Amino acid sequence: MSSALLDEAARIAREFDYPADQVNHGVTEYIKQSNEGLAQENTTLSQIPTFVTAVPNGTEKGLYLAVDLGGTNFRDLFTFLARQIEAFLRIHHNEHFEAHLRRRRDDGNHVVDLFDLGFTFSFPVRQCGINSGTLIRWTKGFNIPDAVGHDVCALLQSAIDDLHLPVRVAALVNDTVGTLMARSYTSPGETGTLLGAIFGTGTNGAYVEKLDKVTKLQHMKDAHYDTSSGEMIINAEWGSFDNHMSVLPTTVYDDELDADSNNPGVQMFEKRVSGMFLGEILRRALLAMHNNPALGLFKPSKTSKVSLPSDSLFYRQWGLDTSLLSQVESDTTKNMVDVKAALKDHLKIEHPSETECQAVKILVHAIGKRAARLAAVPLAAILIHTGKLETDEIVDVGVDGSLVEFYPSFEAYMREALREVPQVGVAGDKKVRIGISKDGSGVGAALIALVASKDETLRNPSKK
Ligand code: BGC
Repeated sequence: MSSALLDEAARIAREFDYPADQVNHGVTEYIKQSNEGLAQENTTLSQIPTFVTAVPNGTEKGLYLAVDLGGTNFRDLFTFLARQIEAFLRIHHNEHFEAHLRRRRDDGNHVVDLFDLGFTFSFPVRQCGINSGTLIRWTKGFNIPDAVGHDVCALLQSAIDDLHLPVRVAALVNDTVGTLMARSYTSPGETGTLLGAIFGTGTNGAYVEKLDKVTKLQHMKDAHYDTSSGEMIINAEWGSFDNHMSVLPTTVYDDELDADSNNPGVQMFEKRVSGMFLGEILRRALLAMHNNPALGLFKPSKTSKVSLPSDSLFYRQWGLDTSLLSQVESDTTKNMVDVKAALKDHLKIEHPSETECQAVKILVHAIGKRAARLAAVPLAAILIHTGKLETDEIVDVGVDGSLVEFYPSFEAYMREALREVPQVGVAGDKKVRIGISKDGSGVGAALIALVASKDETLRNPSKK
């Protein structure tokens, strides 16, 4: 039984192989889809212009507010956020707040002396300016249909105004854009950062693009932005790369996960790469082995005293948290102490045999490694597309998210795949400097609020 179990685990693991030729196909296709996204709307890769036209260099100073959206019910969402802002102001800037209220009472003037706020909203939003944009779709399991098509900045501003807060929503910020800005603010040396990427619950990237390549901007009549840098940050929304599945690898577990999700057929790249989904892919693969009578994974037998209670999260969709993968992958003990602890803590599985633990390890490794190798695809594509490896000595990349931070060897596997792309190779890989930009989205949001507050054309488009 035991060797059959390991054989089957190895067979399933091979289905997650993502070899060099597929990586290269992926890169070619990514470049194609990204060019389409720069030219027109409604493409798989949204390539959203963010209207942020410069990255900071570390000298910027000021007092700005930042709000990062967690999640709650839509009807109350923006009121909830406004109340949180009010509570924050009362604790940290009460004098300013009171003065504002006094002025408002005395002369009705509530326009002056506003705090500029950067609003981090980490979902695909079609931006029409630095502080306005309509929600295209929810991702990462969110599903509040009412919100789609609405301007999320206007909704937050109106909730703020209802509470008479001295706050102006100055910038709408995707977390990847925030990560890019924050990394550029703090990264060592002269070079600005090229790319900000998130490998966490979801995945996405934002990069610095030449303005003349963003040809769809020409069709945006009311778009106002500063053209002096000749560049603009583009939010790729790469979670939706190759939704039509022309090059992405797949297994029966991926297909079933997608079919049972609340957004089948979209975020297909994200569903193979990011933390929200890797646990569920693993759960489905393990469940198939559990339900196979010839294998009997996690079923007691003469040789195994394993116990798996019927209320275990093992039986529940989305029940397996991706942190289990990180715990399992980092176990280097001979008796697989950490694998056992993870199975117990996450799934109430007790006394698994060593063979069962081994099978779990094999699958975890395969799923995590495929994710990391897939992550190299947009990275290589953006390096090639921007030509940065040819022009720059160092190409700086800021990353954030639980996978890249905690999954052992995520970056190493990603780099391995990067080197397998001939236009990058060993030499190119050496030029790429990847650094964690911890909680960059908050700092980045404040930085973008700063840029926005300084730009008169954005505060008052008629002046342009
Ligand atoms: C969203 C992106 C976001 C990413 C990382 C994706 O699901 O569509 O906007 O940047 O998650 O949080």
